[in-house]
Amino acid sequence: MRSYTGRVTVPPPIVAPSILAADFARLADEVRAVEDAADWLHVDVMDNHFVPNLTIGLPVVQSLRAVTALPFDVHLMITDPRRWAPGYADAGAYNVTFHAEACDNPVELARDLRSAGAKAGLAIDRDTPIEPYLEILPSFDTLLIMTIKAGFGGQRFIPQLLDKVRTARRHVAAGHLELRIEVDGGIAADTIAQAAEAGADAFVAGTAVYGADDPAEAVRRLRALAGRAAAGV
Ligand code: DX5
Ligand code: ZN
Repeated sequence: MRSYTGRVTVPPPIVAPSILAADFARLADEVRAVEDAADWLHVDVMDNHFVPNLTIGLPVVQSLRAVTALPFDVHLMITDPRRWAPGYADAGAYNVTFHAEACDNPVELARDLRSAGAKAGLAIDRDTPIEPYLEILPSFDTLLIMTIKAGFGGQRFIPQLLDKVRTARRHVAAGHLELRIEVDGGIAADTIAQAAEAGADAFVAGTAVYGADDPAEAVRRLRALAGRAAAGV
């Protein structure tokens, strides 16, 4: 994208608080606490099969949909996403992301999600290389690159995984693809700049938002840090 001055313009960064780090007994209040500051609400669905952890599923997403206008960024850490993912699109999710490792025909599922009215996201876990998936990125709206091993919040950010972000960003730029590159895991005030410099433009943050005294202010601060890093200032 070029502005009228001929300079390359970068879309504003997306910050998506993860409710995994919220108080599940007060979920509606926790969502409202970030409503004015967040771009998307990141919802981690874990099934105790694809990952060892177990979180929430469709009924909770359906109930939450009624209490906020925030777009839902649903991150499915589940086996058999073909069976479950379209239900999240039908429930009104803005973006539905499933894991490359869990799906043998990601292009087909992306098409189904788009036909159901959602954006389609492809997630790449810690130990999965990005290269085999570069050629199918035109079928997707978001690429979620894990910066930890998927499964639990509160883990330490792994900077080496940003090499995948750099590779993806080069590919997206070369192909002029319309694709958000999202990072997830250990994103906080001391790590977000390096992720933005590597080329990420959407940032999931659980602990850094819900562990803060003022979650909305934490979201704004993260966005400002990412924006400055992306602009190189
Ligand atoms: C973990 C989840 C993340 C998690 C991030 O597998 O996908 O979205 O909530 O939590 P933090 O930001 O605490 O690393
Ligand atoms: Zn996530």
